[in-house]
Amino acid sequence: MIPDKWTQRSSFGPGIRYNGLMASTCQLVDTQHRRITYLRVSVTDRCNLRCVYCMPEKVEWKPRAEILSYEEILRIVSVARELGVRKVRVTGGEPLVRHGVPELLRRLMALGIEERCLTTNGIRFAEQAEDLRAAGLQRVNISLDTLDPDKFRRITRGGELSRVLESLDKALELGLQPRINVVAMRGFNEDELPALARLSLDRPLTVRFIEVMPFGGQSPDPRLRREAPDKPIDCEAREVDPLSMDEVRAIVGISPAVTLRQVEGELPVLNTLGPAEYTQLPGAMGRLGFIASMHEHICERCNRVRLTADGWLKPCLLGSERVLVRDAARSGTDDDIRAAFGELMRIKPVRGTRDVGWEEAMAGIGG
Ligand code: 5AD
Ligand code: SF4
Repeated sequence: MIPDKWTQRSSFGPGIRYNGLMASTCQLVDTQHRRITYLRVSVTDRCNLRCVYCMPEKVEWKPRAEILSYEEILRIVSVARELGVRKVRVTGGEPLVRHGVPELLRRLMALGIEERCLTTNGIRFAEQAEDLRAAGLQRVNISLDTLDPDKFRRITRGGELSRVLESLDKALELGLQPRINVVAMRGFNEDELPALARLSLDRPLTVRFIEVMPFGGQSPDPRLRREAPDKPIDCEAREVDPLSMDEVRAIVGISPAVTLRQVEGELPVLNTLGPAEYTQLPGAMGRLGFIASMHEHICERCNRVRLTADGWLKPCLLGSERVLVRDAARSGTDDDIRAAFGELMRIKPVRGTRDVGWEEAMAGIGG
């Protein structure tokens, strides 16, 4: 039996009434009545790059024994699906450093997950793109902060830009509606933001600008270790110097009046509206997105939770709240997994705040 306090009957499907027996009509709804339909699944904390804003140069990976097998992941997703999850994004670290992602996607599709997405750094995407597409991948996010090979090498500590560009072309060719994630950094890619935005002019892709969040011990600057992520960071010289989305909008020449126009519904396929605010350059084929991760409260419309590679459910990227689901997936029953999701709904914070240090790498959480 599923305790009533964390599942609520679906507000969809007129006439369906939860009678305590029909688990299939139960949905994941948190204490703020936010309906959770999106699960981000990290398949590894490892990465073949070391972006300076994401992780330190030397990383201690999680012990292999703690990493979930695909079987275990699929068990968890299967329960999540039953509880209303419709969209899964496969993340990392870099998910494609783990073998078998196409097979995972195929099985996600078989489980009835309607939206299947991937976030990748693009280093190994091109070579697997066709397999991934054939396995049911629908959309892909690719990280790309600069179009200059030397700067790319610097920001990723050794990455090869040409491989990412190749991946982007491949994603376009296969109709995977790529979204490019651009972390906006003063003095690093500031001058390139207009050129990056213009990639959306004649390509069916979205360029999304993201405010740096001070994860991963990226800088010793104590001002980066802020407790409340709802105020602007104010600091000068350091390794990673964030630009606010207002600054980014000004740089790419998008007036706030235009940006405020939500393009949901006016453009094809943007199924799950996340934390970004979308707009377009005049006459553009693609879109622009702005994620003011450090400035705006985007939590009211949050529809997502996360599964880490080592089997923790996290209700929020920022906070330390988490529920271990690994043991339930390894040796428990489906009811144990359901109970973990129930607890997750109970602890999902109203608003995300970083209540612990920022040393943890973003890659450990799955972005
Ligand atoms: N701040 C903002 N975005 C980040 N990403 C990784 N680390 C950070 C950070 N500290 C983004 C990258 C990548 C996505 C998975 O997460 O842009 O595209
Ligand atoms: Fe790897 Fe992505 Fe982190 Fe860069 S941002 S180090 S590509 S996980």
